[in-house]
Amino acid sequence: MPDADARPLLEVKGVTVRFGGITALDGITFSISRGAITGLIGPNGAGKTTLFNCLSRLYQFSDGEILFEGQPLRAHPAHAIAALGIGRTFQNLALFRTMSVRDNVMLGGHCRSGTGFLGNALRLPSVRREERMLGEQAARMIDLLDLGEVAHRPVSDLSFGTAKRVEFARALMSRPKLLLLDEPAGGLNHEEVDGLRLLLRRIQSELSLTILLVEHHMNLVMRVSDQVVALDFGRKIADGTPAQVQAHPDVVRAYLGVEA
Ligand SMILES: Nc1ncnc2c1ncn2[C@@H]1O[C@H](COP(=O)(O)OP(=O)(O)O)[C@@H](O)[C@H]1O
Ligand SMILES: [Mg+2]
Repeated sequence: MPDADARPLLEVKGVTVRFGGITALDGITFSISRGAITGLIGPNGAGKTTLFNCLSRLYQFSDGEILFEGQPLRAHPAHAIAALGIGRTFQNLALFRTMSVRDNVMLGGHCRSGTGFLGNALRLPSVRREERMLGEQAARMIDLLDLGEVAHRPVSDLSFGTAKRVEFARALMSRPKLLLLDEPAGGLNHEEVDGLRLLLRRIQSELSLTILLVEHHMNLVMRVSDQVVALDFGRKIADGTPAQVQAHPDVVRAYLGVEA
């Protein structure tokens, strides 16, 4: 259906979030095309994580609407978001450190699970079939993220950069259409950031993913993104190509605190 594909995957329309006296998001509007990598930037406290939490339905928004494939997100509770096709990683790693890489990755597939408690208890053929499919999917993700050599090691053995790739693989197991990444370059060294940039491009093209990326690392955002949205004090100050946003006087002012 060409119509469905022409429509943006995600439409954020006038979203407002207040915490007591603070307006964390003030009428934010932007949209994301299918297959694009969008960078979300802004100084500390700009509202980036708040926006992510609205997209994963962890926070309520008081005004506005978020449409995913044309459907209002309001209709779906937080636990249903992954099955809808929105996956995320967290700013701080959320992995089971004593479990193996493979088992951590496998856990990401369970939101798609169609078999219930009883089916699992009875080990019905459908459960075994599903486990095999999950195992194959996990192997594919482990391969895609170059984790083959550490697949059977506990996460506690890994460097921070490698553990982050495990979180990626786990998020990809739910086969998201939209992947939300909150500061994936945080804590990575120079070389690892460059590897991350290539990795983002690779998973985007191989899995036809759409990615929304919150990131402080300007060089990474500007090189990897197709579109950049800039926030400051809860308002959108710029939205366009990386070159347009980087040169926008309000963005320069927000980052450097001087007149452009
Ligand atoms: N759960 C919360 N309760 C109260 N205030 C919050 C909460 N989450 C965020 N805020 C406030 O909202 C604003 C935006 O925060 P945040 O979205 O975390 O910014 P960013 O991720 O861009 O650094 C800040 O002023 C922050 O203190
Ligand atoms: Mg944040």
